[in-house]
Amino acid sequence: MAIKIAFYDTKPYDRVWFDEYNKEYGFEITYFEHKLNNATARTSSGFDVVCTFVNDTLDAEVLQILLDNHIRLIALRCAGFNNVDLKFICDKIPVVRVPAYSPNSVAEHAIAMLLTLVRNLQHAYVRTREFNFSLGNLIGFDLHGKTVGVIGTGKIGRAFISICKGFGMKVLAVDGFQDDSLGVEYSDLDTVLRNADVVSLHCPLTKDSYHMISREKLAMMKSSAILINTSRGALVDSIALADAIQTKKLGGAALDVYEEESNLFYEDNSFSIITDDTLIRLISMPNVLVTSHQAFLTKEALQAIAATTLKSVNDYFTDGTVENSVCYKTVKA
Ligand code: NAI
Repeated sequence: MAIKIAFYDTKPYDRVWFDEYNKEYGFEITYFEHKLNNATARTSSGFDVVCTFVNDTLDAEVLQILLDNHIRLIALRCAGFNNVDLKFICDKIPVVRVPAYSPNSVAEHAIAMLLTLVRNLQHAYVRTREFNFSLGNLIGFDLHGKTVGVIGTGKIGRAFISICKGFGMKVLAVDGFQDDSLGVEYSDLDTVLRNADVVSLHCPLTKDSYHMISREKLAMMKSSAILINTSRGALVDSIALADAIQTKKLGGAALDVYEEESNLFYEDNSFSIITDDTLIRLISMPNVLVTSHQAFLTKEALQAIAATTLKSVNDYFTDGTVENSVCYKTVKA
């Protein structure tokens, strides 16, 4: 009997590579458009595996329903696992993830957002489409010679550092695990925030890193500094961020993630009334750029996500191997 996998929060672009790579395995895949949460968890009945993404909810209540439905494996088709109650699920059934699918995809998106902001390309693009060839208010600044603060020098952080070095930027870094081979200067968070012209977040969201960029930390930053967040929204206190930019205490922000994104991102809300005033404030500011958690969205990354996820499912059901498991005993969560 074929292994049955329930996919949650799927979009057409998710299916392309999963369908392609599943030709090798022949799993019975059902793609749900709805997210996994307390209201939908019962749709996991009859499946062996649930496969989820960044905005699905895997809290204790949902996980208990999955257990009641005899789900045998949870496969996260992403790297982050902040949405999973690992304490509850570890020792019950394995949770696997895709630890590295394309660090370059995220690092390059962070750079694309940075360049867009510092050269005002979002405004230039709109102007020239209307044959407005004026340059007023489009003055940017050189990245060469500027200092970039990189918070988290793991897989994505180091890919980002390598590009920044190519631009001739000085790199200051923060990470409990320092890698001398990177040739960057490590320091504490406060020192980095005080000295950086650009700060880019590349660390996971945990209970310790929640709102690590708080009102107090934002106040330490240069008033011209740019904050880039391609990691997880709740690393940043969004209300404090909007206040800092509105009062000109921060130069701008490039956000691929937002702490209240789960009911907004990945959907067309252009005909909805948005009730999140903080997001409205941020999007309204000319020096804020928001993308919809799309840093992972390259062909290479989607291929790697599908290949790793399906291999993890196959390994587990073939001989019990769980190579990319996450458990609170082995990770800080
Ligand atoms: P990684 O595990 O390779 O590196 C994370 C690094 O952060 C580690 O070196 C760790 O020691 C460090 N770290 C942990 N807590 C820290 C703290 N409080 N301060 C400073 N450093 C800290 O992870 P990777 O692959 O580089 O991914 C980083 C994050 O990027 C993920 O946790 C995920 O949230 C996010 N991500 C976002 C995507 C998007 O589409 N926007 C796609 C993939 C990942």
